[in-house]
Amino acid sequence: MKRIAVLTSGGDAPGMNAAIRAVVRGGLEQGWEVFGVRQGYAGLMGGDFVSLSARDVGGIIQQGGTVLGSARAPEFKTEEGRKQALANLEARGVEALVVIGGGGSQSGAYALSRMGFPVVGVASTIDNDLYGSETTIGVDTALNIALEAIDRLKVTASSHHRAFLVEVMGRDCGYLALMAGIAGGAEVIVLPEVESDPEEVIETLKAAYRRGKAHAIAVVAEGATNNANELMLYAQENQKRIGFDLRVTILGHVQRGGMPGAFDRLLATRLGVGAVERLAGGEHGVLMGLIRGEILATPLDEAAGRKKPLDLGLLEMARVLAK
Ligand code: F6P
Repeated sequence: MKRIAVLTSGGDAPGMNAAIRAVVRGGLEQGWEVFGVRQGYAGLMGGDFVSLSARDVGGIIQQGGTVLGSARAPEFKTEEGRKQALANLEARGVEALVVIGGGGSQSGAYALSRMGFPVVGVASTIDNDLYGSETTIGVDTALNIALEAIDRLKVTASSHHRAFLVEVMGRDCGYLALMAGIAGGAEVIVLPEVESDPEEVIETLKAAYRRGKAHAIAVVAEGATNNANELMLYAQENQKRIGFDLRVTILGHVQRGGMPGAFDRLLATRLGVGAVERLAGGEHGVLMGLIRGEILATPLDEAAGRKKPLDLGLLEMARVLAK
């Protein structure tokens, strides 16, 4: 193999740059030329390729986001879009592609692989919902950002004897909310995976005051049936009966923009190097992930389109410990 390409796709995640650096420098070590594709699958279809040297990926290991840019590219879901992407890869003599991204991105990788092109995925999403990796790139950093916010909100909540609804990212998956809720000692955790009742959320916050707490925190996932704004609306409509002060903080993209911590830099580096090693060994059509501490490959036909389930038993543990 002489030429490979690497792209980042979907929502960016802290640590993506460390993975790009690992793929580029690992690939150069094999004697390959490595192309970066700008703006994910959009750049693949548009032919936006750039040849990368070791110096081009210098000083990026500590940077959040992705120097290659990322995008959500619905056109790539069409046969036409994919054929265009393949034509662009072939025109440059690129023989394999590394896709750094989450669920949607790995489904795209699988589609290319089914069309006969060698692809290796690298598990990267702050949502941590990807089958084939116990933890994905960006989760640890995003979680720590959410936690710092929760810790700070607790301070001001205590000063004013207030309750807070803190909304964290996760359109389809409550991993960040569950873990931030447990580590932040939240009184309530609201997840997309579990039906929620606004009255029950408010009652649980109220019960925290009755037990003598100076604050009450609900961590709510963005994709929960009742998100933070909906819960706030319910609380406002029932303000007189509720009898305590409630505020909302929506963390949103703040969680995605941080500098990657040590864990994400190391994970991304190991996964990027792992992707190159698999390609060098002639393996492709796989997703590189962290499984029981090891960097392992899971076939894309097993991992793509499949969600990793949440351990909902932890929700009960969180409830008990919020006493
Ligand atoms: O990448 C995952 C994620 O951050 C989800 O948690 C969130 O729901 C979504 O992306 C937001 O996407 P966008 O940045 O395209 O609005």
